[in-house]
Amino acid sequence: MEITAAVVKEKGGSFNLQKLKLEEPRPNEVLVRIVATGTCHTDMAARDNFLGSSDFFPIVLGHEGAGIVEKVGAAVTGLAVGDHVVMTFGFCGHCVNCKSGKPAYCEKFMPLNFGGCRLDGSHSHHDHDNNGIKDNFFSQSSFATYAIGDQNNVIKVPKEAPLEILGPLGCGIQTGAGAIINSLKVKAGSSVVISGSGAVGLAALLAAKACSATTIVAVDINEERLNFALELGATHVVNSKKENVIEALQKIEPKGFDFGFDTTGRNDVINNSLAVLKSAGEMGIVGVAEKPLEIEMNGYVARGIQLKGIVEGDSVPGEFIPAMVKMYMNGQFPFDKLIKKYKFEDINQAIDDSEHGRTIKPVILIGEYNG
Ligand SMILES: NC(=O)c1ccc[n+]([C@@H]2O[C@H](COP(=O)([O-])OP(=O)(O)OC[C@H]3O[C@@H](n4cnc5c(N)ncnc54)[C@H](O)[C@@H]3O)[C@@H](O)[C@H]2O)c1
Ligand SMILES: [Zn+2]
Ligand SMILES: [Zn+2]
Repeated sequence: MEITAAVVKEKGGSFNLQKLKLEEPRPNEVLVRIVATGTCHTDMAARDNFLGSSDFFPIVLGHEGAGIVEKVGAAVTGLAVGDHVVMTFGFCGHCVNCKSGKPAYCEKFMPLNFGGCRLDGSHSHHDHDNNGIKDNFFSQSSFATYAIGDQNNVIKVPKEAPLEILGPLGCGIQTGAGAIINSLKVKAGSSVVISGSGAVGLAALLAAKACSATTIVAVDINEERLNFALELGATHVVNSKKENVIEALQKIEPKGFDFGFDTTGRNDVINNSLAVLKSAGEMGIVGVAEKPLEIEMNGYVARGIQLKGIVEGDSVPGEFIPAMVKMYMNGQFPFDKLIKKYKFEDINQAIDDSEHGRTIKPVILIGEYNG
């Protein structure tokens, strides 16, 4: 079938809307008519070829798709034409980590999400000269009118929920909320310092509030975002451009914080949070970093500090995405406040606004939806 997709032709290039041909779904695959797709910093990191792949372009990116099932392959169970779905990260479903409830650490995570093709090297997208286009980004490539996912990463959601805004539950929002709920298991009455008030950090903030943490501090360099963090329920904010972060945090929690969560991927910022944790405190990190992390190890070993890398909020998507939808519908998790909607033809503006801190979570409206 013919689809319209946003294609990045070279490293650092812009997103160009182009007609492509999309194959029929294979037995384990699902064809989804995309209604809307969120943009995430990982799309930009991939556009900039952060993995240094030798042959990554032209590619269709996009990995926070939301849409309606158009066709299912013969072996697909649990999904039917017309179902509303969120597309999330790819995982194989049968390796040791997938089987033990840790699909974000699937042995095939890299090829299924960043391989630029199916596991067997084939492409479902072709241009009109029949050249294969790099695809299967996060097992979806959802900056397009239609996308093909695997049945593992296409998650059914209730029809009463507003499908247009649900895509970010497949990555950015899932990462922040899941880090707090699934990975750190933040408890009622606890204290949390969250660095970076972007989509991931603010989703973490909303989740910390939903978990009844009683001290929730947002650290950022953007005053507007910090004011917004206060509106969303941060109990304190610290502007690291204006204040000595360690002193400010020690004043807020003189006995130290139970939890830290960093979304900036920056050495200095992570070290500031580590310094103010209680003994046996836990710190989660998710940012795509430019430099290796250096820490003063002995002190942290002696204090039993736990530093945890987290992918996709340790989510089991078939359980956690519907749970976040319910939390949203109940008013416990108002992640819609982070979203700004853009038309498909304005995708480059959306990316630019996100990169310059003007929009927290852009969602690209792609297909018709009367929700
Ligand atoms: N591990 C995963 O599974 C996963 C999933 C999704 C996203 N990510 C990554 O998480 C990171 C955060 O994503 P996002 O969408 O929230 O990004 P974002 O750019 O919207 O947010 C980052 C925030 O950090 C702030 N910041 C920058 N420098 C700072 C400093 N020195 N001190 C304090 N704050 C500072 C920025 O002002 C911004 O508000 C990205 O690197 C993204 O690629 C990881
Ligand atoms: Zn696996
Ligand atoms: Zn992402």
